Amino acid sequence: MNLKTLISEESLQKRIKELGNQITEEYKNKELIIICILTGAVYFATELTKYIDNTNLKIEFMKVSSYGNSTESTGEVKIKKDLDSSIAGKNVIIVEDIIDTGLTMHTLKRILLDRKPESLKICTMLDKKERRKVEINADYVGFDIPNKFVLGYGLDYEEYYRNLPYIAYCED
Ligand code: IMP
Repeated sequence: MNLKTLISEESLQKRIKELGNQITEEYKNKELIIICILTGAVYFATELTKYIDNTNLKIEFMKVSSYGNSTESTGEVKIKKDLDSSIAGKNVIIVEDIIDTGLTMHTLKRILLDRKPESLKICTMLDKKERRKVEINADYVGFDIPNKFVLGYGLDYEEYYRNLPYIAYCED
């Protein structure tokens, strides 16, 4: 594959630190649960939480199905791994790698709101707004990106390329 850099490692680090600082300010003296959506958001969530200065922070993991092996979202969300604890009455931020059509996040948000958190926000590393099929907006966005299939920093193509330390796109 002919990979080109879309977002460098340095730019990612700088932006993630900014988001961490912003979340620190907005959740001062509050308990916070970060829900990292497996597997794609692992790199982003671990880096982000290092910059959130809050000793009342917990990290939870959730795995939901989205694409399967094709590159189109079905809109159907299956929970493959659920949270280990209740989020009722808690301040929660969902941390996702990318919002594309928005179908996954739209459904996931509904599922989590049913569990009655005190607050629920969405933080996404990347946002491909022009691909949206349903109305969903993230509260924190790392980067708005064009309609390209991207890889790296947790994002995969058939499970490969997640370990690239930057965001790449494929030029054919
Ligand atoms: P959505 O339901 O269309 O918003 O899809 C969200 C999920 O699709 C993300 O969590 C990713 O796992 C995957 N996805 C969407 N766009 C890309 C991409 O450009 N590269 C890799 N995975 C992607």
